[in-house]
Amino acid sequence: MSMQFPPFVVRRVHCDRPIVQGGMGVGVSLAPLAGAVAREGGMGTVSSACLDRLVSRRIGREVGAREAAAIEVAEAKRLSRGRGAVAMNVMVAIQGSYADSVLGALDGGVDAIVSGAGLPLSLPNVVAGHPRAEAVALIPIVSSARALRVLGKRWAAAGRRPDAVVVEGPLAGGHLGWKTAEEVEDPAHRLEVLLDEVLAEARRQGGIPVIAAAGGIFDRADVEAMLSRGAAAVQLGTRFLATEESSASPAYKRAVVASTAQDVEVAMEPGSPCGLPFRVLRSSTMYRLAAGGALRVRCDKGYLRGPHGCLAVREQGRYFCICNGLLSSAGYNAGEEPPLYTVGANAPRVDRILPVAELMAELVGAKPATLPQAVNA
Ligand SMILES: Cc1cc2nc3c(=O)[nH]c(=O)nc-3n(C[C@H](O)[C@H](O)[C@H](O)COP(=O)(O)O)c2cc1C
Repeated sequence: MSMQFPPFVVRRVHCDRPIVQGGMGVGVSLAPLAGAVAREGGMGTVSSACLDRLVSRRIGREVGAREAAAIEVAEAKRLSRGRGAVAMNVMVAIQGSYADSVLGALDGGVDAIVSGAGLPLSLPNVVAGHPRAEAVALIPIVSSARALRVLGKRWAAAGRRPDAVVVEGPLAGGHLGWKTAEEVEDPAHRLEVLLDEVLAEARRQGGIPVIAAAGGIFDRADVEAMLSRGAAAVQLGTRFLATEESSASPAYKRAVVASTAQDVEVAMEPGSPCGLPFRVLRSSTMYRLAAGGALRVRCDKGYLRGPHGCLAVREQGRYFCICNGLLSSAGYNAGEEPPLYTVGANAPRVDRILPVAELMAELVGAKPATLPQAVNA
């Protein structure tokens, strides 16, 4: 007999269906996808990566990171029709706009901030002082119990504890939370092992109410397995990338459907200038150019430019021009820059593009006749 799915409830987030659509930057999970997932009773996530450019182009007026985040979140909330919840994913690695993205999401009425690609140690301090600081759920992404331990201590000093925590395993798309490709493949880092460890640490910290597991979850059986193991919700990325509502370019979605196991690689060199392993489709043009030594990185966007510039420019030949490659994959300047497709390990199993409503029904069954309104709608 198949299981009854419990609602996912943290702080003021109330989702009828315990499904979280993971943030997908650059420009893959925007308001249309996040709003559709929320409307189906899950938690949809807008990615804040490069949102200033994406929103400025769409509305025909130049906006900064804070206003862009507010506009996109407000649009996702409008599309949600008061159901489910809308989160904003903000990557620690994009330091230059981190605080503005978080504060803009709060301005726009976001229900939760989900933050990873580095440990979001400063997040409670960033939200403190905003009028919605107490309303918003703060959800770090970790890939180990140790990371949750470190984070728990730091946040306690700032008077907060995580409202939930996303455990991201080695099969996920995007950046992965280990230093080397070997560590990514280590059996000790399988999602099930990480989930058990993080659940134990969450209990030790007084029972952080929700654990969501991410990476390699594909179908209803996977959802049931993770919830039975103690996860309170499940986070998926790649399956939502291949939906009608995702803002990935049509060519990107077609490349996911056409992919085989041999096409998927955990890239390190050439790799991401963030210095973390990054899963890609080998068929993406930017990957092929970089692997063949033919990619000249010029860095005209600057999201990852630290005090010493972007690593990809300083050490030509070792890194992708990740900002331009990912922007191109979402249709931004696609004629000028080659695309870089990131996917989860499950991409080869995706065999068609489907609407979010159909995917949600496949994962957790038919939609309840009436969905309750989100508490803070
Ligand atoms: C195209 C793509 C882009 C992603 N971008 C981000 C991101 O910007 N920030 C982040 O924290 N996670 C990112 N992820 C990870 C997802 O949010 C999610 O946790 C992960 O993909 C789950 O694994 P799955 O793809 O096997 O379902 C990305 C994943 C994909 C597939």
